[in-house]
Amino acid sequence: MTRTPLIAGNWKMFKTGPEAVDTATQLAAACADVRDKEIMIAPTYVCLPLVATAIANTSLHLGAQNLHFEKQGAFTGEISADMLAAAGVEYVIIGHSERRQYFFETDDMVNRKIQAAVAGRLKPILCIGETQAQREAGNTFLTLDKQVADGVKGVDSKLLQDLVIAYEPVWAIGTGETAGPDQVETVHSYLRTMLDTQISSDLAQTVRILYGGSVKPDNIANLMRIQDVDGVLVGGASLDAGTFTELVKYD
Ligand code: PGA
Repeated sequence: MTRTPLIAGNWKMFKTGPEAVDTATQLAAACADVRDKEIMIAPTYVCLPLVATAIANTSLHLGAQNLHFEKQGAFTGEISADMLAAAGVEYVIIGHSERRQYFFETDDMVNRKIQAAVAGRLKPILCIGETQAQREAGNTFLTLDKQVADGVKGVDSKLLQDLVIAYEPVWAIGTGETAGPDQVETVHSYLRTMLDTQISSDLAQTVRILYGGSVKPDNIANLMRIQDVDGVLVGGASLDAGTFTELVKYD
């Protein structure tokens, strides 16, 4: 089973509209010749339509950083799957650790968001990862098991054919600390086996499992070489078009 590697940039709360368009345009030009990987950028909500226009007819794919699980209604400040799809969005990041930590997203909310995403034909990127304390307490696998199982609970595995999982150890995000190759390999192969035995063997084969947490041009090659690493989710190093291009064109 060949899985197309996904190099995904999460721009978090950075860049105004013109800045996002500028970076996206530069990135699209620099990566126009890339055929063997998928490249995704996730700007803020307000930048999505602008960036969608800027990258139309290029090889870049568009993602959102979040969504609300209701279809519509009196939910001030929220955005639905249908609204994102209509803005040209293809992927949506769900359950990022910053959403869990600062905006109190629970596994139940993450599950409802996954359901909303697949119902709206968006490709969900389910983020999971243990904190330093959970790792030190020996609860890494317990934590990841629960985040995956609860995240996809009740969703027909046929609807999950475009699911992406991003393993992002919380202690590695934005800290400059990356999980070691052994740690990454152990977790990724554990996750694929867990999906195989507990959810669906077809899904275990198709799902792309990304690594995230301080991915940089100088460590991406070693990460991508690891069995069961199907791409990366990048924060800081995705903000600059030149650096992001180095990530995409690593060797
Ligand atoms: P980072 O962020 O690359 O800046 O560590 C990763 C993420 O939050 O997805």
